Formats: sequence, structure tokens, C-alpha cells
Amino acid sequence: MRLMAIAGVLVALGSAGAARAQDARMGEQVFHRCAVCHEIGPGAANRQGPVLNELFGRIAGTEPGFRFSDAMVAAGQGGLIWTPETVASFIASPRHFDPATRMIFPGLSNQADIADVIAYLETFTTAEGAELKLGHALLTTYCASCHAVEKTGESPHPQAPPFRELHLRYPVEELTEALVEGLVSGHPDMPEFEFEPDQAEAIVRYLEALE
Ligand code: HEC
Ligand code: HEC
Repeated sequence: MRLMAIAGVLVALGSAGAARAQDARMGEQVFHRCAVCHEIGPGAANRQGPVLNELFGRIAGTEPGFRFSDAMVAAGQGGLIWTPETVASFIASPRHFDPATRMIFPGLSNQADIADVIAYLETFTTAEGAELKLGHALLTTYCASCHAVEKTGESPHPQAPPFRELHLRYPVEELTEALVEGLVSGHPDMPEFEFEPDQAEAIVRYLEALE
């Protein structure tokens, strides 16, 4: 379920056409209601709410320098990644989405307003940045309990290679197919994974960026 929700993110980002630009302009108006607490754009900073630049692909509750509720941090640790779909259900009714959130906002009831404001938010996430973040978010969520997923640090599982060393063994793009068709390591400790093609792309882009 969660994987299905994430799958849409890059497709949605790639579909920016004239209609989206129109939606984004409408969304700028809707955003006035968010701007009471949130800043976005060049020079934006955390206020009562976290800065919303580079939102898509971000793990919930991880924006540096902002004190999130325990609930939002826990949601991120549980695998909540911001995509157009997850942001839509959050802003439709924050309290319903997570009763313990500190975002005290009744929600947007109009579906067109939700779509428009998301189109506006998307203009502040670069496609490349979103892809790297999605790759990072997926590896953090599904692999970091065993593998080191950052540029430094040891793997929690002593036999799991740090991901930054994978490229020493083979070109990491060779993993793309395996990530989609089912990644099995032959090691009994490692679960089998299957990702959507765009998720596999994002994971490989992130692994390449680690080199
Ligand atoms: C009254 C202030 C307020 C308003 C209005 C508000 N927010 Fe928030 N928002 C917050 C706070 C506070 C948080 C942190 C929530 C937490 O930690 O539980 C937050 C969190 C978020 C997050 C999660 C960010 C992250 O990095 O995890 C998103 C996305 C978001 N808001 C979008 C919006 C949008 C879009 C609107 C307008 C439709 C909006 N918010 C209106 C205060 C607000
Ligand atoms: C429960 C622990 C665990 C988790 C979670 C896990 N792995 Fe592993 N992984 C291992 C272990 C242990 C090995 C070493 C296997 C071996 O040496 O044969 C391994 C090996 C690998 C290898 C092969 C490295 C080589 O020798 O070429 C790859 C690639 C890999 N993991 C990717 C992933 C990815 C991607 C994820 C998340 C989607 C993941 N793993 C999640 C434990 C884990």
C-alpha cells in the first residue's frame, strides 16, 4: 500500500504541462492560508511550520532545525514520505490524518484547492532533488536497519555492506532490474524487496550519488 502511494511521485513531477502551470497559479492563492505558518521559495525559513521547499520525497518530520511533534517524527520513522498523495490526505484533514499532529489547521475541503496547492508546492521541488530524496527515503525506510545508507557510518548489521561501497563490487545501475523484479541477496537475514520502476531508478540515482 505504502509503496503504491510512493510510486506516483516522479510521474506526477514529470507531468508539469500548461494545465499544471495554471493549477500552480491558482494554488498560490490557496497557499495564502498556509503562509500564516509556512514559508516557501528562496530564503524561506522555518516559522510556526516547517519550510516547504523540496517537500516531495522528504521523510515526514525530518526538516532540519524544526521541532516536530513526536507524532510526526514517529510517522516518518514508520515510513511516511511526502508525495502528492500523502500531502493531499494530510492537508485535507490534518487531525484526521494524525490526531497528535501539531499542525492546527482545519484542512482544505475543496478537492480543486488541494490539487492546486500541491501543483504550487511542486514548483518548489526540483525533479532531480525529489528523485535523490525519494531514493534516500526508500533506503532509509527499508534498508537502514541493516545497511549504512549515508556517506559515513557503519552498517548496523555486521555482514551487510555499507551502500557507499556497493559500487566497488559492480556498477550500481545493474541493480535497477533486480530492485524491480525482486532483490534477493542469498543471505537469510535479508528480506526480499520489489520496487516500482521509478522507485528503483530513484534508489540507483541515490546510490550513484554516494560514490
Ligand atoms: C496554524 C499553522 C499552520 C497552517 C495554517 C498550516 N500548517 Fe502545515 N504545519 C504546521 C506545523 C506546526 C507543522 C508540523 C506538524 C507536526 O510536527 O506535527 C506542519 C507540517 C506540515 C507539513 C509536513 C512537513 C514535513 O516536513 O514533515 C506539510 C506538508 C504541511 N504542513 C503543509 C501545509 C499546507 C500545504 C498548508 C496549507 C494548506 C498548511 N500546512 C497549513 C503548521 C501549519
Ligand atoms: C535485515 C537486514 C537487511 C535488510 C533490511 C536489507 N539487507 Fe541487504 N543485505 C543484508 C545482508 C546481511 C547482506 C549480506 C549478504 C551476503 O553477504 O551474502 C546484504 C546484501 C545486500 C546486497 C548485496 C551486496 C553484494 O554483496 O553485492 C545488496 C545489493 C543489498 N543487500 C541491498 C539491500 C537493499 C536495497 C535493501 C533495502 C531495500 C536491503 N538490502 C535491506 C541484510 C539486509
